[in-house]
Amino acid sequence: MSPFTCVLGSGHAVPPRILTNAELEQMVDTSEEWIIERCGIRQRHIAAPGSALSDLATQAAQQALSAAEVAAADIDMIIVATVTGDMKFPAMACLIQEKLQADNAAAFDVSAACSGFLYSLHLADSLMRTSGYRHILVIAAEMLSSMVNWQDRNTCVLFGDGAGAVVLGRSDGSNGLLSTYVKSDGRHHKLLFNPGGSQHPPSHETIDNQLATINMAGREVFRHAVVSMTDALNAALEQAGLTSADIDLLIPHQANIRIIEGIGKRCKIPADKVYVNVDRYGNTSAASVPIALNEAWRGGRISSGDIVALVTFGAGLTWSACIIRF
Ligand code: UT7
Repeated sequence: MSPFTCVLGSGHAVPPRILTNAELEQMVDTSEEWIIERCGIRQRHIAAPGSALSDLATQAAQQALSAAEVAAADIDMIIVATVTGDMKFPAMACLIQEKLQADNAAAFDVSAACSGFLYSLHLADSLMRTSGYRHILVIAAEMLSSMVNWQDRNTCVLFGDGAGAVVLGRSDGSNGLLSTYVKSDGRHHKLLFNPGGSQHPPSHETIDNQLATINMAGREVFRHAVVSMTDALNAALEQAGLTSADIDLLIPHQANIRIIEGIGKRCKIPADKVYVNVDRYGNTSAASVPIALNEAWRGGRISSGDIVALVTFGAGLTWSACIIRF
């Protein structure tokens, strides 16, 4: 039997409402030029107030199941990467399980911020190898618009909402996940965090003091992002016995075009082999890589046999990479 876990199908969904840079100009002291030049973002999709992220995630999952030709009843496990689930508990994975009627699965969430999707793939791959599971549904979904401080120009221009999903199964050949790599460094957790939690439960004071919104030291995070994603990519490549010259398509976390270009340069991967959609979605946190993967696959950017490298970075700090042969 092939030793590999493979991606059988993928899907993604974003809310219909588009928030433009011109609209942000009306909300904070920023400019269209600054956002495009410093971040490469032209627009982002934002969920309607009161809407459920689990609905968006379910749409992405249904698309992935349909592409994989796997019935919801045949899913053994649902792993959802998110830091913005519908509720504090239960896990959003359980809400999605109900919506999908995936009654034979076990379901739980993973909290690793922007790296959550690749952390989940790492976990799912290990479980596929060591358990009798046949299909694992991995979803990454975020509604960061729900925890953005809309008066803070340092962060509110960056983020968007969305969901991506993949169905994993057992490969019957040489295609599949060749390697996964995960790493974190909690010493830097104060560079990017949302303090709203059990230490600061909801109160008038926490709302007034913006204690339930995103705080980020952008410049420092930027520096760590380029170095860490380069390290993760090199580690995953080495584990797979490959070099960056073998990569047909690099799908990096979509946080900032300058970070994406920095990684391409450091890893010597030409721009035409690097997937970019940050201009259309902004930073959708954990959902960013699976949204891009689904777009690239459905858009014909990935062919059978291609080596695709995924790499992410986020709060924690966390970083991760995965090499897949399609
Ligand atoms: O997904 C998880 C990881 N997150 C990231 O990867 C984000 C990483 N960081 C970044 O992408 C960038 O650091 C930012 C886009 C957040 C900021 O870009 P930067 O080039 O690092 O800007 P900066 O923070 O060094 O700020 C430069 C200037 C400052 O003004 P002064 O102090 O030089 O007068 C900021 O106040 O730009 C100002 N600024 C803005 N100006 C217009 C910050 N945000 C804005 C804005 N519009 N929205």
